[in-house]
Amino acid sequence: MKRIEHNRLYLSTGQLRERAIRILLEEAYQARENAYAPYSSFRVGAALLSEDGHIYTGANVENVSYGATLCAERVAVGNAISQGANRFLAIAIVGGKTLLPDAQMQELIQEGTWMDNLTFCPPCGICRQVLAEFCSPEHFFVILGDPKGDYEVVTLEQLYPNSFSREQLL
Ligand code: THU
Repeated sequence: MKRIEHNRLYLSTGQLRERAIRILLEEAYQARENAYAPYSSFRVGAALLSEDGHIYTGANVENVSYGATLCAERVAVGNAISQGANRFLAIAIVGGKTLLPDAQMQELIQEGTWMDNLTFCPPCGICRQVLAEFCSPEHFFVILGDPKGDYEVVTLEQLYPNSFSREQLL
């Protein structure tokens, strides 16, 4: 399993280092290769970084009963939890449709730009809630990547403010 040492993770400003972001994005792209998305053709990969520096990946797993579909982010969380990790610092997410109507796809393949139809894939509402369970939202970074090498980094707090949390249960 890939790791990122803590001293290689943050700049002195508290932001993530470019190198750490690149490693997480690369892991997410690789995980996306295994996505099972025959119904939407929207393939997603996620790479989740635990507090001790391990990276746990996930890809979306669709089902013919559509509601049984699992998002890549929650697969990554389940993967991590089932291996003993339970606090997380960051997640990289990459996704988008790859299968286009044949003619259009052929054109893109010839141009060598067939992956360009991938887009930023912000986590769905359920995944935001699940991620919030295992992190400090104001310090947890969500890295949204696209295949051109562009990315955006936001905190979970920005994506999912005022979430329902365990304090409400007390
Ligand atoms: N999906 C994810 O894996 N993560 C997200 O954050 C958004 C959506 C998946 C679920 C489904 O397999 C496909 O993308 C289309 O919604």
